Amino acid sequence: MKKIGIITSGGDSPGMNACLRAVVRAAVHFNMEVTGFYKGYEGLIDNDYVNLNTTSVSGIIQRGGTILKTARSKRFFTDEGQNKAAQHLKDHGIGGFVVIGGDGSFKGAIELSKKIDIPIIGCPGTIDNDLIGTDFTIGYDTAINTVVEAVDKIRDTAESHDRIFVIEVMGRDAGLIAIRSAIASGAEALLVPEMKNDIEVLIGKIKNWRTSKSSKIVIVAEGEQYGGAYKVAELIKKESPEFDVRVTVLGHIQRGGNPTCMERVNASLMGYNAVIALRNGRRNDMVGIINNKITFTPFEKSVKHIEQLDRNLLNMIEVLSS
Ligand code: F6P
Repeated sequence: MKKIGIITSGGDSPGMNACLRAVVRAAVHFNMEVTGFYKGYEGLIDNDYVNLNTTSVSGIIQRGGTILKTARSKRFFTDEGQNKAAQHLKDHGIGGFVVIGGDGSFKGAIELSKKIDIPIIGCPGTIDNDLIGTDFTIGYDTAINTVVEAVDKIRDTAESHDRIFVIEVMGRDAGLIAIRSAIASGAEALLVPEMKNDIEVLIGKIKNWRTSKSSKIVIVAEGEQYGGAYKVAELIKKESPEFDVRVTVLGHIQRGGNPTCMERVNASLMGYNAVIALRNGRRNDMVGIINNKITFTPFEKSVKHIEQLDRNLLNMIEVLSS
């Protein structure tokens, strides 16, 4: 393998740059050239590329976002888009391909592999942490730390006014940002897409919390069943007008910022091992880290959503938030 291609794809996540840096530096170390395509599959379709070398990835390990830019490509869902992308890879003489992205990006990789016979390795880049085959995806640790920092600040004002805050975090289909940030910020309750959340139960809980508890934080994942934080706050107010309720939607702040130390290390490990995997003849697998060990999971399996949240974590929230 003389040349590899790489994209960052889907929603950006802090640590993508660290992963890209590791891929490029490892490839150069093993005497391979690297071509990066801008904006994920869009750049592959348009042949919008840059040749990357050791210095192209200098000074990026600490930066959020992705220097390769990213996109959610609608055109890549079409046969025409996929054929163009495959043709451009052939024209460049690319013998192996790395995709840094989430489930949509790996579904794209599965389609691409039907059009061109080159090995593809995925590095899990998404703040959602919702891929099977890794304990942590690139971006998750930074995102939850961002959430916790924000909730700590909200807690100060909530305490001062004896208020309930309903705080919305990202996660269209997954409550994994919500669950860990709820634990770490000492939140009183949690609403997530994976569970049938009963608003009556939540309101009952709020009413029964000890009176000495002056602030109450409810963390809501954006994809939960009632339609997000504003809707949940409305339902609480309707049932219990006596509560002073406020809403904060954290939004895209969760996707930015300098990656944490853990993120940089994991992203580097995944990028480095993606190159080793390509050299070893692996194909169509996502690299992950489980129990501190590098693992590989076929794309078909990795894109299946984690359906159940860790019961132990959920039970713990119930007990510790009393
Ligand atoms: O997949 C990552 C994610 O941040 C989700 O948590 C969120 O629902 C979605 O992307 C938002 O996507 P966009 O930035 O395209 O609106």
